[in-house]
Amino acid sequence: MIWTTLLLFHGVLVLFLILSNRSRSKKEPPLDKGIIPWLGHALDFGKDAAKFLTRMKLKHGDIFTVRVAGHYVTVLLDPNSYDAVLQDPVTLDFTRYAQVLMQRIFSLSLPNHNTSTEKALMRRHFQGESLACLNSIMEGNLQALLRSEMLQDKANWKQDGLFNFCYSLLFRAGYLTLFGGEHNNHDRDSSAVYKEFRVFDSLLTKMARNTLNPEEKRTTSSVRQRLWRLLSLAPPGKKAEDSTWLQSYLQHLQEEGVEEEMQRRAMLLQVWATQGNVGPTAFWLLGFLLTNPEAMNAVKREFNGLSLQADLPQRPPLDKFQNTPVFDSVLNETLRLTAAPFITREVLHSKTLRMADGQEYDIRRGDRVCLFPYISPQMDPEIHKEPEKFKYNRFLNADGSEKNDFYKGGKRLKYYTMPWGAGKNVCVGRHFAISSIKQFVFTVLTVLDLEMCDPDSAMPKVNASRYGFGVLQPETDLDIRYKLRGVF
Ligand code: HEM
Repeated sequence: MIWTTLLLFHGVLVLFLILSNRSRSKKEPPLDKGIIPWLGHALDFGKDAAKFLTRMKLKHGDIFTVRVAGHYVTVLLDPNSYDAVLQDPVTLDFTRYAQVLMQRIFSLSLPNHNTSTEKALMRRHFQGESLACLNSIMEGNLQALLRSEMLQDKANWKQDGLFNFCYSLLFRAGYLTLFGGEHNNHDRDSSAVYKEFRVFDSLLTKMARNTLNPEEKRTTSSVRQRLWRLLSLAPPGKKAEDSTWLQSYLQHLQEEGVEEEMQRRAMLLQVWATQGNVGPTAFWLLGFLLTNPEAMNAVKREFNGLSLQADLPQRPPLDKFQNTPVFDSVLNETLRLTAAPFITREVLHSKTLRMADGQEYDIRRGDRVCLFPYISPQMDPEIHKEPEKFKYNRFLNADGSEKNDFYKGGKRLKYYTMPWGAGKNVCVGRHFAISSIKQFVFTVLTVLDLEMCDPDSAMPKVNASRYGFGVLQPETDLDIRYKLRGVF
């Protein structure tokens, strides 16, 4: 028996050494396995991916392969070459890695799921007339929530953390807009979902990396259960064309034979995809305005102009809201500094990647390819001068129009900032996200007096463990106070 165990152990060890003993062939990108067998660079990657990948870029250049927890990931950091990855969705697949994350984070498995139909549904409901309709429901929900918040005490200052203030209002309004059927008790449900979601969200990166400790595992399991219970399934619309996005989505799952339990889990995934980045973006944007008076004045001037144009003291109609170059520049700059998703694809067949400078690199089937636009273009000093600074007019020309010409290596860039991804998998909800943030900032700045409790406060540091997972979150909150300015 002991000999069998020893032999088995020996066999596993040899297999492990063979598997972890990969070497670089001549045409492959530089390979950096790190010193820890199997784990490779997983610890550095998880602690602060931006710092780690910047170090690797200095060591190896714009393309290299690193070992991370048993996987080989080829990281590409030259924006002029991003199309080599983004324009090949057949070999470089979005869905497989997304399914791994779905299982780890949401305990969700949709094996025969038709993602094209799902995406077509989303496109239909998040553009054109449907988008205009969603925008106006969102506006109503935002106003109603803010009003009920302020009604309790109109005269006095209220205190909160800016992150919680933004995330809570935008999450609840967005949740009511997209998930709040008539059968729901709006206020109570949305607050309960928000409260549980924040606990879930705080553990999300650890779930994705499989690094939860036993206590965190228990917490995620119970918070997930509570969220699944809270997310009630919307009844289908009477006619297909009257259905909301959620009703159509659930109907699509039912037609695929997905059971009710899995449908609830899919709802949590959708709550995260639609609500997880909007509130944090509004936090950074308002924080940058509060700590940059010149930017705040420029945005307020633009918003005041809109209200006057529309002959309304407070709210311009939504179509007047389209032309806001100053706000758009502030939003682009905010996202340049804080949107840090990994754009990850699984290599389905070995292929040769051709870089913009003509160099060619082989990449292997089964590996992953990862773009990290946060390092370049977004924080690249060759493209954006003093990239660590917030400059509200970075995306404005001298004549006030949108600036979109940025260069690297003498070449005009197609991708000079990339918060929404690009190519076939570009964010479907970006127009809704932009409108929601704009409406929120407009409402807050027009109906509230909002200030930092300590006028000398600086913006908090980012939570470095969240690089790779969308919009960053702060390490600590920023204390603010606010009160109603006049009638609302
Ligand atoms: C500030 C807010 C948001 C940011 C920064 C953001 C960012 C992104 C990024 C970077 C991707 C591409 C991922 C990749 O290529 O690997 C993406 C995809 C996606 N986003 Fe967003 N997003 C935001 C808000 C929203 C909202 C509000 C919705 C829906 C209402 C949404 C729905 C989606 C969907 C469905 C996809 C997947 C597209 C596909 O499967 O091809 N997002 N988003």
